[in-house]
Amino acid sequence: MRDAKIETSRLTLRPWAEEDIEQLTQGLNDLKLAKWLAFVPHPYTASHAENWVRRCREISNSSDRPAAYEFAIELRPSRLVIGGVSLNKIDWQAGTAGGGIWIADNHQGHGYGREAFEAKIRFAFRELGLTKLVNGFFDGNENSWAMQRKLGYRRVAEVTSRCMADGRQTIEHVTTLLRSDWERRNN
Ligand SMILES: CC(C)(COP(=O)(O)OP(=O)(O)OC[C@H]1O[C@@H](n2cnc3c(N)ncnc32)[C@H](O)[C@@H]1OP(=O)(O)O)[C@@H](O)C(=O)NCCC(=O)NCCS
Repeated sequence: MRDAKIETSRLTLRPWAEEDIEQLTQGLNDLKLAKWLAFVPHPYTASHAENWVRRCREISNSSDRPAAYEFAIELRPSRLVIGGVSLNKIDWQAGTAGGGIWIADNHQGHGYGREAFEAKIRFAFRELGLTKLVNGFFDGNENSWAMQRKLGYRRVAEVTSRCMADGRQTIEHVTTLLRSDWERRNN
């Protein structure tokens, strides 16, 4: 299933496109936000965004079972791109995947993160048939943990990690969600 598109009550999750470069750059060129993400450089320029969009297209065209689904989060009906959510490091054999999410600073706190993450989880378990999602959050990122906890993620480990944006080494709390637990909560 390539170029998947997901509709929720307020959002469309769809593949990144050239037209998104400006909004992608604006959203991620923000250290307050990037300091919670592992692989976003700072400053984040249009050329970073262009490379990212190109890479997403390559991954999605590479196979019917791609290694990742990277979604732009679009607000309806304005079609404004307010963030990104991903399923990555997909191991089809093991039924597992990693992932991440960001919502632009001026759109946080309206439930969009939760709505997009929930849709991504449903897609992973119901459409792709995966059985376990692995995520995480840097120590101190209470907003991310609050969102993940409400969706049923559990903290399972701590590892050291490095933030590309500010170069600091930090603790990363690893979190997981099993399909069996999620199905129990949603039935
Ligand atoms: C983490 C993030 C994606 C959450 O998205 P969001 O749209 O702001 O979060 P939501 O509005 O959906 O909130 C989900 C829950 O988390 C909590 N929460 C999220 N942001 C909050 C905030 N600013 N203040 C207080 N609580 C917050 C709330 O408890 C909320 O629960 P509710 O649905 O019962 O109200 C967003 O804050 C973000 O992009 N942060 C920077 C990048 C990042 O940390 N990404 C995740 C890396 S692991």
